[in-house]
Amino acid sequence: MENPFRYGSIVTGEYFVDREQELAELQLDMRSGQNVVLVSPRRFGKTSLVLIVAERLRAQGVLVAYLDLLTTPSKATFANGLATALYRDLVGFKGRAWHKLQQFFGQKSLLPTLKVGPDGTPSIELGLGERSGELDTALARLLEIPGQVATDQKKRVAVVLDEFQEARLIDDHLPTLIRSVWQMQPDVSHVFLGSQRHMMQRLFTDKSEPMYRMAKPMTLDAIPSDVFATFIKGRFAATGREITGAAVDRLLEITSCHPHDTQELAYFTWNLAFLEGVVATQETVEHALDRVLRAESARYTEVWSRLTKTQRLVLLALATSGGAKAIYSESYRQQYGLGAQSTVQSSLKGLRDTELVDMIPPAKYWIPDPFLRAWLLRMTGAVTG
Ligand SMILES: Nc1ncnc2c1ncn2[C@@H]1O[C@H](COP(=O)(O)OP(=O)(O)OP(=O)(O)O)[C@@H](O)[C@H]1O
Ligand SMILES: [Mg+2]
Repeated sequence: MENPFRYGSIVTGEYFVDREQELAELQLDMRSGQNVVLVSPRRFGKTSLVLIVAERLRAQGVLVAYLDLLTTPSKATFANGLATALYRDLVGFKGRAWHKLQQFFGQKSLLPTLKVGPDGTPSIELGLGERSGELDTALARLLEIPGQVATDQKKRVAVVLDEFQEARLIDDHLPTLIRSVWQMQPDVSHVFLGSQRHMMQRLFTDKSEPMYRMAKPMTLDAIPSDVFATFIKGRFAATGREITGAAVDRLLEITSCHPHDTQELAYFTWNLAFLEGVVATQETVEHALDRVLRAESARYTEVWSRLTKTQRLVLLALATSGGAKAIYSESYRQQYGLGAQSTVQSSLKGLRDTELVDMIPPAKYWIPDPFLRAWLLRMTGAVTG
């Protein structure tokens, strides 16, 4: 017997629920050469969504290249990663002669070397030095490839850059370089995925930013509770187990339908019910939450230890009040002992940079991680009695 819930990696098929509208919209955009920037808090399902769309589009003959910027910490590794993704997804490693590879990149005056990883995965190395001028020229040539493939092969092409909030860390001018080449490719769909909502949004909506108005904004919200409830019951039923309606309600109340955390808590709940051979009840869910918090506790303690005093107070305030629409107001700051407005402001900046706090425009601050909220609430419970 297998646990019917999955968390931590990308999900597809029976493990993936809802997002019908987002799937259809993204599919249409990517097929139409529309640029898209897809933003959500961490672990809301961006990568899963885009990879499902990519599979569907490939089945329709659209070429879709995908690169995760977390795997390319420098400009040179970004160039290698992009070369690999473009060749793998637009041409394909299988059954291609070595000279084809040379030819493909040779047109761009690039000299590829084929590497094979321990697991047999091929990758391309361009042997570029860290000299900035040379690298920029090579990168610009690489970035031209999607447009050229689209023209030469008369095919629809889409390129996905995941974890795009990392672009600036790779190199401060990388977004500028990407824009300068990709704005000349009207028929290619460029898709940018990222968390760190405020940073991503600024990059694409601030007039002074290089990516300003380059892509259509799309956001992923939590999954609607009725859809998630049906999914959870269905997954239990598919394994011959049962969960009460009240237990599902409690589970979704704890996670506020956060996709990853709902799957995680459901996973622990199913395990407990299975091992004890019982119907999952509200009590089972509470037990499962204990287990999850115990599993996550070391991580949260580590995070907590690195925060300033005001950051800790702000987090506790947000956990207790369930978010705040007027965090800077005199009354809110006084109620939770937060101190001066300027201190709260700088604390919030740090908390948002590390994604512990998120802001929903115009000004609602909240903690997007449900288990961190639960962990904080337990801590205040322990402190106050
Ligand atoms: N549509 C969905 N249906 C069910 N579970 C989902 C769905 N989307 C996401 N999840 C859950 O969330 C987890 C994270 O999904 P995914 O990695 O696609 O999100 P992400 O937004 O790309 O995360 P990250 O911020 O880490 O890049 C999955 O392992 C799964 O448990
Ligand atoms: Mg992702």
